[in-house]
Amino acid sequence: MKRPPLSARKTLQELDADLLRGAAVALRADFNVPLEGGRVADAARIERTVPTIEYLVAAGSRVVILSHLGRPAGRMRSELTLRPVADCLDGLVEAPVAFLPHVGGDAVRDAVAGMMRGSVLLLENTRFLPGETAGDPGLAADWARWADHFVLDAFGTAHRAHASTDGLPRAVRGKGGEAVAGFLVAVELDVLGGVLGDPGRPFAAVIGGAKISGKIDVIEALLPRVDMLLVGGAMANTFLLAMGMETGGSLVEPDRADVARRILEAAGPRLLLPVDCVVAASLAPGVETRSVDRTAVRAEDVIGDVGPVTAELFRTCLSKAVTIVWNGPMGAFEIDAFAAGTRAVSVSAAAAAEAGATVIIGGGDSVAAVRSAGVASRISHISTGGGASLDLLAGKALPGLEALSDRTRAGNSRGTEA
Ligand code: 3PG
Repeated sequence: MKRPPLSARKTLQELDADLLRGAAVALRADFNVPLEGGRVADAARIERTVPTIEYLVAAGSRVVILSHLGRPAGRMRSELTLRPVADCLDGLVEAPVAFLPHVGGDAVRDAVAGMMRGSVLLLENTRFLPGETAGDPGLAADWARWADHFVLDAFGTAHRAHASTDGLPRAVRGKGGEAVAGFLVAVELDVLGGVLGDPGRPFAAVIGGAKISGKIDVIEALLPRVDMLLVGGAMANTFLLAMGMETGGSLVEPDRADVARRILEAAGPRLLLPVDCVVAASLAPGVETRSVDRTAVRAEDVIGDVGPVTAELFRTCLSKAVTIVWNGPMGAFEIDAFAAGTRAVSVSAAAAAEAGATVIIGGGDSVAAVRSAGVASRISHISTGGGASLDLLAGKALPGLEALSDRTRAGNSRGTEA
């Protein structure tokens, strides 16, 4: 069956004000943020959901936020409580934010029943319950007891068919409520959908990271669309291996060499691989490194980064591009000695953005790289989704989006008064 276009999903802005007034709105956010010493270390993802929360607050809804944090495997883990997120959120939105140390059952239903219009309640980590990642319909039905409507702002988790991203919106719709995309999701779909639809050209994709296996789908989906596909990171090693080159002790996926060969043939000159590499005896901090031509890698070498000639080649390509999508680092950038290639792409991408290109960056590592290079504010769009943005670019259906109401079937429920 052909999937509806991304724009077919109903958005929060399209709902009647009457529908939201007094209604209990389950807002699935992605507050999977780094914590340090019991505090939120990077609030970017939380900040991006604030417009949706404030819109619902202004509309007089009772805003009940669900999110996961980390991967606690279905049991309570005190270090993964969302309490620090509630503290952070309280400082970001005008309305008071309460935290409930429960995530399901009557405790949640009763707390929601006692909420005032325009107030915000953050529930405990959804993944403390085993039913969340299992997509348990019973858990979704439990939440749907109190939820009049559902808003998805968790773009970063939209590729997971979990109880809170897939089951809950379906259960809410099943009882006549609306399940819509929040502002964060709408922006992500606009930007990424634009790239999938009619990108400004030349269109360059920069794909890096450790493994080709995790990104084959996106490479194959992007290939017919892009004018240039720049590949770096350890995944480039598998392409070099497929071309018959020495890759020494580098990370390679020999079982993917055939796929790499197929991609090389299909891409022709549009695929740009590293022409030189930074090598060392191991990928360890403080190790001695050499920059060598890709044909000069020795059996005892490990490739840790793209070399300076490649960084310049990629800079030239990016300076010509009008649309750039980047996901994945160019090397083991967490180690200083192998960070130059990723830093160079960060700077080149920012320069391209400043010159007018649309630059979209996704994936935790690439986002961390542009931040540490101090150029994040110059990038046109930093996606809140790593895996989700890759799946979208690969043309895959995102369960969280599939579960939302579509524009052709209008919902007709009324909000419930508090
Ligand atoms: C992310 O940080 O990529 C999202 O929150 C999804 O997390 P997950 O990979 O644990 O499902």
